[in-house]
Amino acid sequence: MDLCVIGAGHVGLVTGACFAELGHHVIIVDNDAAKIRQLKRGRLPFFEPGLEELVHRTVAERRLRFTATLAEGVRASLIIFIAVGTPQKPSGEADLTHVEHVTRGIAAHLTGYRLIVEKSTVPVETGQWIQHTLRTYTRRKVPFDVASNPEFLREGTAIQDLLHPDRIVLGVETARAKELLLQLYKPLNAPLVVTDIRSAELIKHASNSFLATKISFINAIARLCELVGADVVKVAEGMGLDPRIGPAFLSAGLGFGGFCLPKDIDAFVHLADKVGYDFALLKAVKQINDEAREHFVRKIEQALWVVKDKTIAILGLSFKPDTDDMRYAPALDVIRALQHDGARIRAFDPQAMAHADGLLPKVTMCRDPYDAAKGADCLAIVTDWNEFKELDFKRLKRLLRQPLIVDGRNVYDAAVLRRLGFRYISVGRRDVSA
Ligand code: UDX
Repeated sequence: MDLCVIGAGHVGLVTGACFAELGHHVIIVDNDAAKIRQLKRGRLPFFEPGLEELVHRTVAERRLRFTATLAEGVRASLIIFIAVGTPQKPSGEADLTHVEHVTRGIAAHLTGYRLIVEKSTVPVETGQWIQHTLRTYTRRKVPFDVASNPEFLREGTAIQDLLHPDRIVLGVETARAKELLLQLYKPLNAPLVVTDIRSAELIKHASNSFLATKISFINAIARLCELVGADVVKVAEGMGLDPRIGPAFLSAGLGFGGFCLPKDIDAFVHLADKVGYDFALLKAVKQINDEAREHFVRKIEQALWVVKDKTIAILGLSFKPDTDDMRYAPALDVIRALQHDGARIRAFDPQAMAHADGLLPKVTMCRDPYDAAKGADCLAIVTDWNEFKELDFKRLKRLLRQPLIVDGRNVYDAAVLRRLGFRYISVGRRDVSA
């Protein structure tokens, strides 16, 4: 099938490359001409495991190409995916300017039937607005359908998520749209939920909000564990074995970041308010998430007594492992709060240092975890990259000014660190000292 994906961001690029991998002919459109030039040279604007190879291969096999001209994409394709950004307005509401702009652009170039599919996370009723906008701005009477096909991919495992989805949600209103999307997704052989456009839009918001709620729930339990002397890791294990609860998304820590969960929660709360429902549960989820970061900073402050002029080594900057994405990353809030208190920061991240550099002035970016630890009064674990799990603790102890580790992701075994002579403070577990 001939497909067009508008928006060369995380969702757009991964979706386009994966559809090309499945044998379709895909054209990815972005109005950022510089980004398209880079993509044509084989350079990707962000890091996602396996994506570069996939893009190079599918481009070489002539199933994937890039353009900055919307008309070219619209003319060449039967199905057009809208995967542009839906950033956040100061009110928390989703900003749909890009979606509206692209829809008008599509309308201007429609010459024959097209299926226009929203992939970006959008509030309920966006599908209706897309339909209305297409009708209003299409010059001739050209037939089209609109559908919603929300994306559930996670950064870091995006290709796997797209090629082996746990479900595919199709919000459709005509038999033609349904047939086209069923044909498109047939090779994936995944469970399908076929519904109306509004329900599909809501499934995406409800799923992300539920995941965020699980994380805040376990972080609230972690605070309680600290107060009563229990172990949140064991509590989560005990809860997660109940199949109705499940073990996923029960890791207590610094809370959720990234460009999806925090933004989607705000947009959902805003949407609910707008239609007359006070989503108090999600407001609490957000508050608990903010508190997780503040509480972590307090732990470092208390362990050091005075933070001013102390050096703190931060391991991990990206919002989660296997990505270089710094959007809503806990590291930003943690480092800024510590700098505000007068701390000097040395940091290391396997992928995100180039992105972080511009966002975090006065942070010394280091070669590796050991370089970061050199002369530091505290080692703080902010992102649970795999490579931080197996460190040479004897070497770290020699490099640190004091053997103190404050772990925001419960990466280590407390008993092992105590035996090695560390003071170890983690989340929802008892502090240990040598
Ligand atoms: C999320 C959704 O998972 C995905 O379905 C949707 O399409 C986009 O948003 P992503 O933002 O890539 O994906 O990250 P995810 O893996 O879901 O993690 C979100 C955040 O929660 C991260 O900051 C992570 O560190 C945190 N997290 C996750 C926890 O703090 N505890 C957990 O148990 C799980």
